[in-house]
Amino acid sequence: MSQWFSTARFGMFVHWGHSAQQGLELSWPLVGGVFSLPFCSKIPVEQYHATAPQFNPQHYDPAAWAALAQQLGMQYVVLTAKHHDGFALFHTQESTFSIQHTPYEQDVVRQFVEAMRAAGLRVGLYFSLIDWHHPDYPAFTEADKPYRFGEYRHPTPEQWERFTQFMFAQVQELLTNYGPIDVLWFDGGWERTPEQWRVQELHALIRSLQPELLINDRLPGFGDFATPEQFIPPQPLEGDWETCMTINESWGHNTQDTQFKSPRQLIHTLCEVAGKGGNLLLNVSPMGDGALPPALLERLMTIADWMQGNQESIVGTSPGLASWQFYGPSTRRGQRLYLHLLMKPYDTITVRGLPIKQVQSVQVLATGKALEYSTRCAIVDSLLNPDPLGELTIQVPEAVLDPYVTVLAVDMG
Ligand code: GLC
Repeated sequence: MSQWFSTARFGMFVHWGHSAQQGLELSWPLVGGVFSLPFCSKIPVEQYHATAPQFNPQHYDPAAWAALAQQLGMQYVVLTAKHHDGFALFHTQESTFSIQHTPYEQDVVRQFVEAMRAAGLRVGLYFSLIDWHHPDYPAFTEADKPYRFGEYRHPTPEQWERFTQFMFAQVQELLTNYGPIDVLWFDGGWERTPEQWRVQELHALIRSLQPELLINDRLPGFGDFATPEQFIPPQPLEGDWETCMTINESWGHNTQDTQFKSPRQLIHTLCEVAGKGGNLLLNVSPMGDGALPPALLERLMTIADWMQGNQESIVGTSPGLASWQFYGPSTRRGQRLYLHLLMKPYDTITVRGLPIKQVQSVQVLATGKALEYSTRCAIVDSLLNPDPLGELTIQVPEAVLDPYVTVLAVDMG
């Protein structure tokens, strides 16, 4: 498993397609919505696809996204190269349903990969196995509504043969035309069986082209990391994992959805994920012209401000204490422990089961302000044990509290 991913902690997901021009959730409106997306509209299939040939995102500026990701302390960025609606944001020899056949013409994926690489960010591509537009998939039609999980129109064997060849060829294009790709983020596996997707062969193809690349767990039967969606696992998961989450309740740019999470909620989520040893892949939804909506930018800038003083407690850290030791998430790096105060303390906070004689200092991470503390342990231990475990109680005056999350750094020697 790649080292970088295991402690990356923060990444940007970009859900984008031509339907952003209509201010619609990505893909799902065409099948009539889905229970998990409360603000997803239902529109005729034809109306959904109608904006594909007009796509012309004149304000698409992946270098600006890269700069934003860097300001946020993000380590990687994942773009929907192709979502369930089948529209490719890359140049493909396999079909005309792509960005190449729009007024924009340029290869959005290439521009994206180049900009992210230039900024030193890791690059991921999302690729939907489902293709609701390809005739051999077969394409989703009005007659297939309402969308029902488990009940899909099935192709003939000849159609499926053609479709899998097409799909394999597109994966091959993504993994040969853009240099090294760090993550291939599959989705949509639920509509067919692993045998139908030919997962073994697909996996072998990917590994032969890019042996270092990481694959998420949505290629059925495979996966270098787990992908909890829209929630934080109650217990840290075994192995690497990544929570993907939206800032409102939609993946694509959806003007119907104004249910935005607050910057504080988002920062708390990031701390909780880091404390459990996972990564947060936070989603952004560019508009049809390629710019990011002000409501997202505003929130991201607040997170960036917070990260400026506190990134050290998130990126590159390992999980800190056990949950019985402290009321909140914590992380560590070497001899430094970071406590994330997600609740406002009453005068003091206490950490239990620490080697108290090793405590050198406690400070507010963002300001460097030293805090007073005291320690205690069992009397016998304090006399006879050179390295006893005990309690560390830290004075936390109101005046040092951060409006989002206060992080304390405890240095052990
Ligand atoms: C779901 C949705 C999709 C979204 C993805 C992100 O599977 O189908 O719209 O891209 O989750 O995790």
